[in-house]
Amino acid sequence: MSKRKAPQESLNEGITDFLVELANYERNVNRAIHKYNAYRKAASVIAKYPNKIKSGTEAKKLDGVGAKIAEKIDEFLTTGKLRKLEKIRNDDTSSSINFLTRVTGIGPAAARKFYDEGIKTLEDLKKIEHKLNHHQQIGLKYFEEFEKRIPRSEMRQMEELILEELEHVGPEYIGTICGSYRRGAESSGDIDILLTHPDFTSHSEKQPRLLHAVVEHLESIGFITDTLSKGDTKFMGVCQLKRGEEDEKDYDHRRIDIRLIPKDQYYCGVLYFTGSDIFNKNMRTHALEKGFTLNEYTIRPLGVTGMAGEPLQVDSEKDIFDYIHMKYREPKDRSE
Ligand code: TTP
Ligand code: MG
Repeated sequence: MSKRKAPQESLNEGITDFLVELANYERNVNRAIHKYNAYRKAASVIAKYPNKIKSGTEAKKLDGVGAKIAEKIDEFLTTGKLRKLEKIRNDDTSSSINFLTRVTGIGPAAARKFYDEGIKTLEDLKKIEHKLNHHQQIGLKYFEEFEKRIPRSEMRQMEELILEELEHVGPEYIGTICGSYRRGAESSGDIDILLTHPDFTSHSEKQPRLLHAVVEHLESIGFITDTLSKGDTKFMGVCQLKRGEEDEKDYDHRRIDIRLIPKDQYYCGVLYFTGSDIFNKNMRTHALEKGFTLNEYTIRPLGVTGMAGEPLQVDSEKDIFDYIHMKYREPKDRSE
């Protein structure tokens, strides 16, 4: 999962920008995840609104924009700024904690702890590098590179390389690059790969070798450069494309996550990790309305008592849409 989301481009960019900034503040500084979700949701519905918003009242008609957000929109439209945000930006605690969470491996809790110890900047972190865990050390080492979005052309090159190498490890592997790339985004924050193999189902034994063989191979060709964590079914690390003869400069180091998923759960996984997160939430709500519970692993019918039944058979993403009577949506149409 990537830390920085692509900036929203819309008629109401000023509004969506301040909502995203408030969202991050609630998550990183206050650890108020519900407020974070509320701001994100409002930003997303406003981003797709086709008109230039002229008042809070107009915005309030949209699902997800409540009275408090409408008030902020009015303040922003009349004064061009928001007192709450000005205060947050000028507040040393908030800005430092917000900054620290941009390092991968530093979440809101660790950021708060560092701040309380007087550690606020990249330079401060470098001085106490030995006190950071491995994940945080890698986050610090590649800080500038991880802040950059990955252009689609580079994502395409990595996809080609990964799928080709996967074939070398074993012809039966199935792999999909999910995340914003699969939704057609012009740039992505990271690489989210899902893998499966016919030998691995939710009824068979765990098969960590199936994941580790792929990771080791990608390391052996120099594509994977660092490991953040490596479990039986999930690898988190760093990769880098090799420089071609004609390239001017090295490619940046990129964040890469690889997940091994049982074959029978693969398409629920592909659906989930393609996102967007807002699309996922909406689809899950729709599923519930139709009497199903949907998560990254399975779709199950809900009985009259509200108990979930056995997982339904799923052989494609479309099967999931069909079960809940939802019209199939191509990945590019899944921003919400
Ligand atoms: P991300 O990599 O965080 O998101 P992304 O690939 O859509 O965007 P980016 O270009 O910034 O990397 O997560 C991948 C998918 O996982 C996301 O599209 C949907 C799913 N997901 C959720 O549904 N909920 C979550 O909280 C997160 C973090 C991810
Ligand atoms: Mg991603």
